[in-house]
Amino acid sequence: MADPVTPFIQEVDRLSPRTAIVVGSGLAGVTAGFYETASIAFADIPGLASPTVHGHSGRVAVGRWEGAPVLIFFGRLHFYEGNTWEVVTAPVRLAAKLGVKVLVLTNAAGGIHPSLDPGSLMAIRDHITLLNRDDWRRLAAGARLRNLYSPSLISRMQYHEVTTGQELLVGTYAGLTGPCYETPAEIRALRAFGADAVGMSTAKEAETAVGLGLEVAAVSCVTNWAAGLGDAPLAHSDVLANAKLAVGRMGGLLRHLVCQGSNRVGVRLA
Ligand code: HPA
Repeated sequence: MADPVTPFIQEVDRLSPRTAIVVGSGLAGVTAGFYETASIAFADIPGLASPTVHGHSGRVAVGRWEGAPVLIFFGRLHFYEGNTWEVVTAPVRLAAKLGVKVLVLTNAAGGIHPSLDPGSLMAIRDHITLLNRDDWRRLAAGARLRNLYSPSLISRMQYHEVTTGQELLVGTYAGLTGPCYETPAEIRALRAFGADAVGMSTAKEAETAVGLGLEVAAVSCVTNWAAGLGDAPLAHSDVLANAKLAVGRMGGLLRHLVCQGSNRVGVRLA
């Protein structure tokens, strides 16, 4: 059988993307306009697994977005699917190995802060995870520093939103393991801790990336009020449906991050 890895890596080498994006639950449409030149299934990459969650495709693609080379992970691997943290963070290590310098993580999240209605976006400034029992080596390596999420990328995102007449909220993400949504009491506790949004991904990926020297930005798409803050019970189908509300805005933000300062082709200077 033909080896799917070699031609993919050759194409990555040819384009040398500086930026990688991880596309979270229900957000596949955010890359409208991305022109893919090669892709590979997670299942074909040693060390990765196939996502088992509806709304996650499990494919990594390379190509150009408005001329800028970019690597895009469509879907991610979660701890709640039975993966070890090693597997959850394998795509990040792969991106670093392929020469990526900037990692942009996206996710779906429950809104805790009163300003975060379903359909709004939040740039992540910092996170709370209580998942670090296995992390002594990572701690020793200094991966949990101040400014885990790049202040300059946050500023760039805020600037972009201002130019489109919108304000980008910036806040703290609580990264839990799932698979269950939280109880209302857990959300009250997270709010008291200072969390603005809650989800089941991103934090470990960001720590791994920073440990490898990457610059990281992360954006949550708020798909629901967190448990106990809205009327309806939480459901994954609502998460997927509401993620669509923010796809256009999130797409503009990501395109801006990818296209700024990259080695674009096809751009004519006057
Ligand atoms: N909690 C945890 N993860 C989530 C939520 C939530 O409310 N919404 C989307 N992902």
